[in-house]
Amino acid sequence: MIAIRGAISVDHNTREDILSSAKQMLKEIIKINRMEIRQIISVIFSVTNDLNQAYPAAAARELGITEAGLMCQQEMYVESGLPKCLRVMVLAETGDEQSSARHIYMKEAARLRPEFARFFAVAVDGPAGVGKGTLAQNLARALRFIYVDTGAMYRAAAYFCLKKDVPLTDAEQVENALANMCLSIENQNNIQRILLDGVDVTDELRTPEVSDASSKVAVIQAVRDKLLILQRKTAEGNNIVMEGRDIGSRVLPDAQIKIYLDADIDERAGRRLKDRDDMGISSDFAEIRRELEERDRRDIQRAHSPLKRAADAVLIDSTHMSPLQVMEAAMCIIYEKTGGLYGIRYSQNIGGDNIPPQIPH
Ligand code: DC
Repeated sequence: MIAIRGAISVDHNTREDILSSAKQMLKEIIKINRMEIRQIISVIFSVTNDLNQAYPAAAARELGITEAGLMCQQEMYVESGLPKCLRVMVLAETGDEQSSARHIYMKEAARLRPEFARFFAVAVDGPAGVGKGTLAQNLARALRFIYVDTGAMYRAAAYFCLKKDVPLTDAEQVENALANMCLSIENQNNIQRILLDGVDVTDELRTPEVSDASSKVAVIQAVRDKLLILQRKTAEGNNIVMEGRDIGSRVLPDAQIKIYLDADIDERAGRRLKDRDDMGISSDFAEIRRELEERDRRDIQRAHSPLKRAADAVLIDSTHMSPLQVMEAAMCIIYEKTGGLYGIRYSQNIGGDNIPPQIPH
């Protein structure tokens, strides 16, 4: 006999929402635990005291769970507890060990037990040139999550406007132009490709001209709203590492892991200079530093979703850290936040030349 726990938040205190949430959770528990309805011995539901429009047991019966003992009760009231929460305990005779039970925490309730959420999101935010891309790609590779670079979406919008000679400071003209932009994302071997009208433009998006233009279009609310939909859609139903400026604070406020990566401006300018050298673009340190300062100013001061550290984001100041050290620090944060399901446990031995392990999931 195994005991399986589940929880889900219910949007509204209505009969319809309570029953549909209960069904959604039970179906998921049955599917993920590969169980048959006849194996279920009992189902005990609890609801917070703000849900009183239906007995969730009715949902179980509607799913065909008619032989099992069903019971509904009120969850003990805790002042700081998650409101409108429906919890369940399923006992089933599956012949499996208890250690194989897969507990399911869905929607807002995923916050209660991040390690049992169906999908994990790692949000990596921070200013320009801080190494978000390197960290996010390394994490995605090690965790086998999907990598999403939201900056590239703003770059694509800017590139589209530049090609069409749309003045970047005219919000209305930019909005009208982008109504005809067909932007899609493809993931090839965990490398994100950006397609505009079906044409892969990824390699055109990292020039200084596009960088500057991207932080100009990013201040326009209509641009942000349009890209927000695409960003959330990409995250849906996937384990992802998403990097940007407002991922933890706006795009994925429920992300289980939020990292805010920062570094001193001189250090960032030095890194950007090296990147440009590697790309064969000759640049000047002072000029890059000015460019970064200007982009930081626009990103931090804009009215809509400015760059800021989410209250629950963990700060990594990478000024004096190598990419590998940043990666290790992030993997330790992920280990803590996922209850050891992903990431690496902190050890005195990490650092130096240690390569973080590939986590099999
Ligand atoms: O990370 P990046 O340099 O590729 O981002 C390009 C621009 O897009 C950057 O100036 C700010 C903007 N951006 C944003 O406003 N919100 C995001 N989530 C990602 C990027």
